[in-house]
This record gives sequence, C-alpha cells and structure tokens, in this order.
Amino acid sequence: MKQLLALLLLILFTACMQGNKTTYTPQEIVEDPHSFSEPVKAVVKHLDLDINVDFETKTLSGKAIWTIDNLSKGDEIVLDSRGLHIDKVTLDGETEETMFALGDEAEYLGQPLSIQINPETRKIYIWYSTSTDAPALQWLQPQQTAGKKHPYLFTQSQAVLTRSWIPCQDSPGIRFTYNAKVSVPKGLLALMSADNPQQKSPDGVYQFKQQHPIPSYLMALAAGDIDFKAIDNRTGVYAEPSVLAKAAWEFADVGKMVNAAEELYGKYRWGRYDLLVLPPSFPFGGMENPMLTFATPTVITGDRSLVNLVAHELAHSWSGNLATNAAWNDFWLNEGFTTYFERRIIEAVYGKEEAKMQEVLGWQSLKKTVEELGKDNPDTRLKLDLKGRDPDEGVSDIAYEKGFFFLRTIEEAVGREKLDDFMKSYFEKYAFRSVTTEQFLRYLGEELIKGDRSLSQKISIREWVYGTGIPDNAPIPQSTILKGLDTILSASKNNFDVQGLSKKIKTTNEKLYFINGLPKALSQEQMKALDQEFSFTRSGNAEIQAAWYLIAIRNQYKTAYPAIKKFLIHVGRRKFLMPLYQEMLKTPKGKEMAKQIYAEARPNYHSVSTNSIDQLMK
Ligand code: BES
Ligand code: ZN
Repeated sequence: MKQLLALLLLILFTACMQGNKTTYTPQEIVEDPHSFSEPVKAVVKHLDLDINVDFETKTLSGKAIWTIDNLSKGDEIVLDSRGLHIDKVTLDGETEETMFALGDEAEYLGQPLSIQINPETRKIYIWYSTSTDAPALQWLQPQQTAGKKHPYLFTQSQAVLTRSWIPCQDSPGIRFTYNAKVSVPKGLLALMSADNPQQKSPDGVYQFKQQHPIPSYLMALAAGDIDFKAIDNRTGVYAEPSVLAKAAWEFADVGKMVNAAEELYGKYRWGRYDLLVLPPSFPFGGMENPMLTFATPTVITGDRSLVNLVAHELAHSWSGNLATNAAWNDFWLNEGFTTYFERRIIEAVYGKEEAKMQEVLGWQSLKKTVEELGKDNPDTRLKLDLKGRDPDEGVSDIAYEKGFFFLRTIEEAVGREKLDDFMKSYFEKYAFRSVTTEQFLRYLGEELIKGDRSLSQKISIREWVYGTGIPDNAPIPQSTILKGLDTILSASKNNFDVQGLSKKIKTTNEKLYFINGLPKALSQEQMKALDQEFSFTRSGNAEIQAAWYLIAIRNQYKTAYPAIKKFLIHVGRRKFLMPLYQEMLKTPKGKEMAKQIYAEARPNYHSVSTNSIDQLMK
C-alpha cells in the first residue's frame, strides 16, 4: 500500500460551475487508510454505469465509465476493487485499450486497480463483472422473499463494500455524480440511490440519474418484484406487493418528518424521499441511500412504534449525505449528528416525552456498551483509529450515543437556539463535502465557542472527542413516564408479582425499559409469569422480541426456544443476531443450540452478518 500517513491534509482548489459563474471552493482530500486510491494524483468526478443483473450466474456485468480529473497530469489512476473480474480498460472511447494491473489482495480491502492513463485522459472505460460471492450483494431465491415467486437482489455498500460491485475510488472523502442503465429480468423493478421509476418497465431496462455528488458508500441497487405507493407529493414507499399496504401505513408520517427536518436544519436538497422495505435478511435497520432509504421489514410493527428509524435515515440526508465523514475514523460525525437530529425530528412530530424516552433508552445502551468495551478502551473514543482493521469494527453505540450525548452537552452549555443556528450553518457550509473531526472542531471553535475559555472548559470538547469512556458532564436524560416504571421495577426485585402490569406498561418504549430493568437472573416461574402477563415470546415487535429472547436464553426459558429459532432463521439484522448468538455461546448447551440454528440460518444472512457471526463462532 501507499504511504500511510496518519492525516495528510491536502487542500486542492477545484473549479466548480454554479450557474454561469465559476467559483473556487477548497476541497480537502484526506488520507484514507481503507482505500487504495490516490486521489491526489487523479480523482473520479462522474460515473456512467451500464450493467446487467444476472440471477442465473449471480453476477453483475457491464461497464463503468469514469470521468476523471488527472490532477497531477501523471500516467496512473488507482481505484479499489474486490473480487472483480476486469476484461479490459479503454481510454476516452471504446477503442483505445490501455494497460491495467490488479495489485496484491488485502483482507477486506480487496485489490488496488492501477490503470495507465495519459496526462489528458478524461474518461476511462472499464469492462468488468462481479464475483459470485461479492460481499455487497445478496442474491435471494424466490422462497426467501415475501411473494416467493421472483428472485431479489440488493446491495449494502457501507462501509467498504462498493468496490465489490463497482470498480471505484471507495473512500467517503471522494464524491461523484452518476448516471446508470441497469438491465434486470422482465417483471422486476430496479431501484437505485437516485431518481427512481415508480413502475416496472416492459423490457426490464431502467435509467437512473444522481445529479448530486455522493461518496461511493451511498451507491445502492435493488431489484425484485417491487411496487410503489405514494405517501405525499415527495415521499413514498416501495415494497413487495404483499408488504406494501402495511409499509405505507407504518410510514404515513414520513412527509411530516421531512417537513420537520427542513424546519430545523434547512432545505431537503435531494428531491424525492422514498423508502424501500427489503426482505428480512437486510443486515441493518436502515441504510441512508440518497433519495431512497433501505429499511428492514422488522420496523413494521403495526403501531408505528419504531419509526424513529425513518427519522434517523432521513436525518442522514443532512448529516452524512450532505456533510460526510471524511474517513471511517470520523464515523461519529455521521452517526452522532444523525442520532441527535433523529431525536429532534421525533420531538417535533411526536412530542418531547417520546424523544426523552428514546434518549433514556439510548443512555442505557451507551452505558452498557462502555461497560462491555471497558471505559479505557480506545474504541470508546469518538475519533476512532481503525487503521489496519475492518472499518466495520468501529460500528458501535459509541459513534451513535456518545456522539449524541456530546451534542446534548453542547446544547446544554450554549442553549438550543445557538446550537441550531450552528448546525444549520454547518450543513450549509459542508453541503456535498466531507469533513474530518478536526475540521469540525475548528468550525465549532470559530462559530460557536469563539474563544470563550470557560465555555469550552464547561463542554470539555477534547475529553469528549479524544478521551475514552463517558465524561462526567454528560447530561443524564430523564423521562417522566419511564421514571414511573422504576417503582414497579424495584418492587418486583423483592416481591415478584407481575399480574396486571401489562395494563400499566403498554408502549414499546416502556416494555423495552421494563425488560432491560429486570433482574439478571429469573426463575422459570418468574419467566413464565412474565410471559403470561405480556406474551413477550409471541410479540410482533422485533425490538421487544430481541430483548426478551436474550433474557430467555440467559435464563434457559425453553418455552421461547422455538420462537427464538424461528426469529434467527427469518431475520438477518445484525444488531439482533449478535447479542443472541453471543448469549448462547456462553454455555456448552447454548453453544450446541447456536451451531444448530446457525447452520440452518446462515444461508439467509447477508455477508455483513455472516462475517460478524463467523467471527463469534470461531
Ligand atoms: N448508516 C447506518 C448503517 C451502517 C453503519 C451500515 C455502518 C454500515 C456501516 C444507518 O444509518 C444506521 O445507523 N442504521 C441503524 C438505524 C438505527 C440507529 C435507527 C441500524 O441499522 O440499526
Ligand atoms: Zn445511521
């Protein structure tokens, strides 16, 4: 690999046209330890993608035409690739073939693809196909879908998986616009992180356009038996036909959420905002693909109690998709800001108490994460050091919840109004650009702290960002409703009587708080009493199921085992799977159970999930 300097900031001035006047905005290119590309030499600007989706061979094939800026006027451009088969590369047209070389393969990073270019080269044409085990892609058999008739394909590109389906400069610090032509079998709809069709085409060919520059991890594609239903003029839902009506009901408030978000932090800059509900193997809750959030069907509960996920992915349209973490070490800039923004949207649409309850649950899971990692663990810093590791390892509640509580601390210190003005101007200033933690801190200093020493001490900025654990000045959240449950919980410690409690503990937030607060060890009688009162084992809410099944495994409550097995085979969301498998692995009998279930379930999981669980099972 090339020189791996910790943080080499190179300020390049790139011309960008705005209307008829050319302005020069500084674009900083940041050294990224998770990409082979060398954008300082030559950088990509636009992609024209033309691919065919083949369910028989489980491959994508076609060509990627990159418009580039050969900044150094040198003779090489380097891209990232993983498992790609490159047929040929031509320059500025389809005839002039050029030399290319794939370098040594590195774990999870793939291989550098070096292409010989000329000082004047504008376009490189790459003919390629993907490997059958490309980790970004999940190919579903008809029986793995809701309709059971058609196959389904979806991508998950974040953090460094785009390179397994498109040869690209796979770094969040590099942006490009794209057009795409995608051919799928007739009868299927194809969707991307772009302007999308609302109907199937007769020939299975679809054209896409993303006019705003995006980083590679926001490239996305899905194809399947998918229909569309509008919610309002600019929002709507895509899903398999049998899921569509329920999905549209669940997400009916999305238009209100977009309005609330605009009210808070400025105009929604992407045109439409739609959601795609994926099959249950989708490895995340949601993924903020521009114009089209990808979402797990496990948020469809029939009572809209998990729609904070929509608020979250929508918020990324500002934090993440406009102002983007420059490298994965700055991941908290994406997720911490988004978690803060998410709860502000929830407050605006559903009220203060709802937001507070979610804040309390967030605080609980942050404390648990810090306990598990250890309060001196470097991975509890906001600014991470993931060099030499898969960036996937940096995904924890630290970025989300410690990031959230850092912003809450600032809010407490300066007041909401000032923080909101600051946030708005931050998204404005960094729109369609990437940001390092250090740039953010500089901007915070200039715009908000303004040399006020006592203010900066009050916030303890450096301790929050570069220190481990949770700083002492964290504002501990309080919720009136959840506080009311504490009395019940402490009473049940001495005298376990749960009869009638389901009349007091009704909403999802309350149930989750209650389950989290139960004593660690429970007898079979106690588990049975709880289940009789609340029917947790048969809950239709995946968050509640996951929390309850964890306790069931810990206390060997066998009544729940068939339901646990069914859940683990059906659902592929990593956040639910990991704790359940981890808990099973703690005992020899549980280990047997885990192995047995995993053997059956593994073919249903996306590589993001199998990767993590394979590690556990080793
Ligand atoms: N961008 C993330 C998902 C992600 C993170 C993918 C890191 C790959 C690497 C997404 O916005 C997210 O945070 N999803 C959460 C939603 C939740 C916080 C409401 C999830 O999937 O659980
Ligand atoms: Zn997120």
